[in-house]
Amino acid sequence: MSRRFLFVVAACVVMLYFSIILFMLNPLHSARLGYPPIPYRNVPIVDWCKPLQRRSPPGDVVGLASFPGSGNTWLRYLLQQATGILTGSVYLDPGLRMHGFPAENVTDGSVLVVKTHETLHTYRNSIFKSTIILIRNPRDAILAEYNRRHMGHIGTAPKSAFKKKIRRKEGDGIEKNKSKTHKETEWERFVASQMTAWESWHKAWLAVFRGPIHIVFYEALVKDTRRVLRDILNFINYNVTESALTCAITHREGIYRRRKKLKDFDPFTDEMYVQLDIIKNRVLAVIAEYRNKHNDTGSRRRRRS
Ligand SMILES: *[C@@H]1O[C@H](CO)[C@@H](O)[C@H](O)[C@H]1NC(C)=O
Ligand SMILES: *[C@@H]1O[C@H](CO)[C@@H](O)[C@H](O)[C@H]1NC(C)=O
Ligand SMILES: *[C@@H]1O[C@H](CO)[C@@H](O)[C@H](O)[C@H]1NC(C)=O
Repeated sequence: MSRRFLFVVAACVVMLYFSIILFMLNPLHSARLGYPPIPYRNVPIVDWCKPLQRRSPPGDVVGLASFPGSGNTWLRYLLQQATGILTGSVYLDPGLRMHGFPAENVTDGSVLVVKTHETLHTYRNSIFKSTIILIRNPRDAILAEYNRRHMGHIGTAPKSAFKKKIRRKEGDGIEKNKSKTHKETEWERFVASQMTAWESWHKAWLAVFRGPIHIVFYEALVKDTRRVLRDILNFINYNVTESALTCAITHREGIYRRRKKLKDFDPFTDEMYVQLDIIKNRVLAVIAEYRNKHNDTGSRRRRRS
């Protein structure tokens, strides 16, 4: 055999090897959301109130729907702390699966709730009998999602990430109205598209989902964790003791709340704040209308379907 032939065979083997690695690294359901590398190496092991297990007997499949960046992972963490029951997801995020959420990709009644960020119309959401909708104000949700895309579930993007300009192709004439010197940044474009998506995401869920909905405001969860958790557990018909709730609250910080905030730096402009207020108020109006129609006071009561 010639050397050249051996060389070609060796090259093919090496290429095949790397294709397999690349293929295996490609997370199953995460293509749309684009998970960045996860800086988990130095993450401490999660300290659980009690060992985690499946729900037995299984319950109805309950969704935990939220727009990306709204604290879905944190709420799952708190629910697992309070109940000792695993939470599932329509996604398989390998980082989460390895760090506290072994039931990623589980979507049946053996888990307490099933995470989704999908808009309502996708097939994955047809499995839910009822759903919790976790809503965070759009400013913080958009910022958290930007952080996640840059740093993963527990980091904060550096200031430079908010200043990067988008490179334009020559002859791009779309920007005629804007001053020639202003180049749009990646951040500005992200905020604009996320604002539109935030509004339509919430409106669609409230308009279309047919089962019982329990609305949870992230801000209320932060301020009054015990009451909000108890309301959620009532909604999904799962009893816990006061001491179990106390344990969850003692562990509330966990690792899934971003502690580090950029000090003296606000990436949002006045113009963005005006727009954020507008979309927030429109969604709040839709929620008020929904609650009115369903006699839902937002407090402790559950409806049976
Ligand atoms: C994810 O869940 C689906 C459906 O239950 C299953 O077929 C698939 O094997 C799971 N994937 C992994 C990697 O566990
Ligand atoms: C939950 O608590 C209620 C009232 O305290 C009780 O009647 C019910 O039997 C409990 N359910 C379970 C499954 O423990
Ligand atoms: C809401 O409450 C009112 C009065 O209490 C009642 O007449 C109405 O039927 C209720 N509507 C629903 C959808 O439960």
